[in-house]
Amino acid sequence: MYRAATLAAIAVLASACTTMDAEGDAMPTDTAMVSPILTTPEAVDDQTYAQPQVARVTHVALDLDLDFDSQRVGGTATLDVLAKPDAEKIVLDSNGLMIRSITDGQGRALKYTMGTMANEGGKGAPLTIMLDGAKKIVIAYDAPADAEALQWLTPEQTAGGKYPYLFSQGQAILNRTWIPTQDSPGIRQTWEARITAPKPLDVVMSGVRQGEPEDLGNGRRAFRFVMDKPVPPYLIALAAGDIDFRATGPRTGVWAEPSTLDRAYNEVADTEQLVEAAEELYGDYRWGRYDMIVLPPSFPYGGMENPVMTFLTPTFIAGDRSNNGLVAHELAHSWSGNLVTNAVWGDGWLNEGVTSYFENRIVEKVYGKKRAEQEAALAYANIIETLNEVGADAPGTALHNDGDGELIGSAIAYDKGHFFMRTLERAVGRERFDAWLRQWFDNHAFQPATSQLIYDDLRTNLVRSPEEAKQLMLHEWIFEPGLPSNVAKPDPQAFATVDAAVAAYAGSGTIPTGWNDWSAAEQMRFLDNIPKQRTAAQLAALNDALGLADTGNNEVLFLWLELALANRYDPAVPQAETFLSEIGRAKFVRPLFAVLMDQGDWGKPIAKRIYAKTRDSYHAVTRAGVDRLMAKDEG
Ligand code: BES
Ligand code: ZN
Repeated sequence: MYRAATLAAIAVLASACTTMDAEGDAMPTDTAMVSPILTTPEAVDDQTYAQPQVARVTHVALDLDLDFDSQRVGGTATLDVLAKPDAEKIVLDSNGLMIRSITDGQGRALKYTMGTMANEGGKGAPLTIMLDGAKKIVIAYDAPADAEALQWLTPEQTAGGKYPYLFSQGQAILNRTWIPTQDSPGIRQTWEARITAPKPLDVVMSGVRQGEPEDLGNGRRAFRFVMDKPVPPYLIALAAGDIDFRATGPRTGVWAEPSTLDRAYNEVADTEQLVEAAEELYGDYRWGRYDMIVLPPSFPYGGMENPVMTFLTPTFIAGDRSNNGLVAHELAHSWSGNLVTNAVWGDGWLNEGVTSYFENRIVEKVYGKKRAEQEAALAYANIIETLNEVGADAPGTALHNDGDGELIGSAIAYDKGHFFMRTLERAVGRERFDAWLRQWFDNHAFQPATSQLIYDDLRTNLVRSPEEAKQLMLHEWIFEPGLPSNVAKPDPQAFATVDAAVAAYAGSGTIPTGWNDWSAAEQMRFLDNIPKQRTAAQLAALNDALGLADTGNNEVLFLWLELALANRYDPAVPQAETFLSEIGRAKFVRPLFAVLMDQGDWGKPIAKRIYAKTRDSYHAVTRAGVDRLMAKDEG
């Protein structure tokens, strides 16, 4: 089964490769597995300087040293180039890289220029290299200490407190701060790496580790990795630290600092089942191993779907696996996102929306229908709340976004995308929908995709009649703002008990009983929906009865802190300060600072005092988010 599918995919790639060129010149197809690029106008990525239709990178070989003293990564990147016969140059992306030399495979120097830096937005500068016939180029370089993709942690910033730590975050366009290549999601590349690090640190990457590390005799070890499947370069990732591994199944396992490993293991012990559930839904897991690393709490996201090595925040650990939708989500990206990838970030819903739907299907299989329906209902509420805020027809609320319209939180790409898939499923039935989604993954495996492509695919491979096409409202869903009228709403019963408890509390102040037996989703629904204006006495009563400040679930704790700070509740400030000092996850940090900044003379000084202390400990992504928010206040 798997074999046949793989061969079919290669055939598609090879033929696509000869037809990919807009001007009709065939590109060489001798490289074993080169993914096609799309050349239609809506597939052209304005966040890259690369001109892949002229010359493109097909393979990256990194040979890098991690220097924890100077906080620098440096070494060489050797790129395989596939170029039109008459191509004179290749253009790469760079953001702050310090180039030492560029040569061809034989050591012959190649001319190059570093263009001017884009003013903002992290696009960086074009690195243009004269090819002079070269098929391989060797770039010797250093990444600066402030490379935005990288976060260097001092020993004090780790759980163990003894060794430094380093991790990278590539999505969306950060990898150009440490890897000189064509940094666009539509330009897939295979890669390999040799990474050296001081003992006793271990290194993991989003590729398969090759053999045992080699002792270099100088206090350092070399680790080798291979990713033999073409991936978009934002998925190249690395972490190094004092970390240990524990298997959760024959092909799954988890890395974490020794003092975190037990808690991490307990939380993700279901992973093998999640992978099996995903495979039953949409076909074989094609990447070999599925491992995870639970990072230090400064990791700016909940999770990142780095192939064969999902990166996770430790803040999802609740002791009861109630936040494991996160694991299902990052796993689902092994199909939606990593196999079939948005060609441009404006079509991010193809990654995140399809994944959020897929996540919910995995949750349903492994944790049951009730939990899945509750999580879907939270997602739906987020869409409605966001549309109420920005306007039901605001331009940024279409799934397909051209231009650089900032995505509106997670409500559109994630939740509207999720509900689009759900609506299709309910309209045509699970069996037909699942068959369609599976063929979408199979037929576009290891290739980029666009909104237009999935629209055409739905019309060809799902829709059976003009009447059905109309009923599905495909064009409205993908290209038009707002929420189409045929949306498959969540089951109103999903939160019947909670919503009654909200009404009772809002009406007569009755605080619910049995709180500790409520699911995390139920607790979140309650905190999301109770009246926003609370007196100090009301907050104290709520906290006393429900133990909110002592919850083991950071999602619930976050909602409590947000509510408390929005009501200028002094007793919550010390805990908020601790939370903001220990955790760097942008989804928690940014809104808490935003709430404080909204609280005038009470909140602003608190926000500024805490941020002055915590800013340096945040990853560049989180820092940029909070900086923006503080700057808004100045301006
Ligand atoms: N790919 C995203 C993380 C991401 C998004 C990084 C945009 C950079 C830019 C990841 O899969 C994700 O969606 N993470 C969510 C988890 C979730 C919705 C369960 C997160 O980090 O909160
Ligand atoms: Zn995601």
